[in-house]
Amino acid sequence: MKKKVNLGVLVSGSGSNLQSIIDSIARGLLDADINVVISNNPDAYALVRAKKHNIASVIIKHTDFETRENCDQKIIDVLKASSVELVVMAGFMRILSPLFLNAFPMKILNIHPAILPAFPGINAQKRAAEYGVKFSGCSVHFADEGVDSGPVIIQAVVPAYDDDTEDTLTARILKEEHRIYPQAIQFYAEGRIEIIGRKVRIKGSKRIPETPLYNPPLTVF
Ligand code: GRF
Repeated sequence: MKKKVNLGVLVSGSGSNLQSIIDSIARGLLDADINVVISNNPDAYALVRAKKHNIASVIIKHTDFETRENCDQKIIDVLKASSVELVVMAGFMRILSPLFLNAFPMKILNIHPAILPAFPGINAQKRAAEYGVKFSGCSVHFADEGVDSGPVIIQAVVPAYDDDTEDTLTARILKEEHRIYPQAIQFYAEGRIEIIGRKVRIKGSKRIPETPLYNPPLTVF
């Protein structure tokens, strides 16, 4: 039997990315087990999803702790007690302290709904739509001490249209998040992620064709 990666998934909200990981495992596409789901928000719908799939879940409210370190230590304790190897932040709306990062060095993934380093931080889709970019997308990256700033593992690009709203762009991006997050985790499971400085190389992956994209399409050139 293939070795499976033990995941701990950190959530704060709807948990659609958690669902995509659950579904990918169920379909046999992702060699992983979700050992625990941790939410800082007791009302997160992600907790309902975990329960439905008999996945252990723990609520750790940051407001119950005096310092970020105390809160992070509690999360670390739960992750370690659950034998978690890889930490997956899926819509987890908290910045991690160095304490947390050092407890899982280069073993914490995050997903961000923009083509990093563009639009880091909150409301990325709204800011991209308002900015008038012609493309946006999503990025899976390693977490580091910055905001959405660690080495990028995989990105997906989607077009942005001039009549896009925050909602339409968010929905288009989210669909791709649900593909690239399980894929990034599977790269990890297959031992294919090589980190060279701030660059990530996926061992054995094909080179995509050198095809530029234009939005709007070229009509003359
Ligand atoms: C996603 O857009 C993710 O990129 C961002 O927060 C959102 C979480 O969505 N970090 P969900 O909770 O996985 O549905």
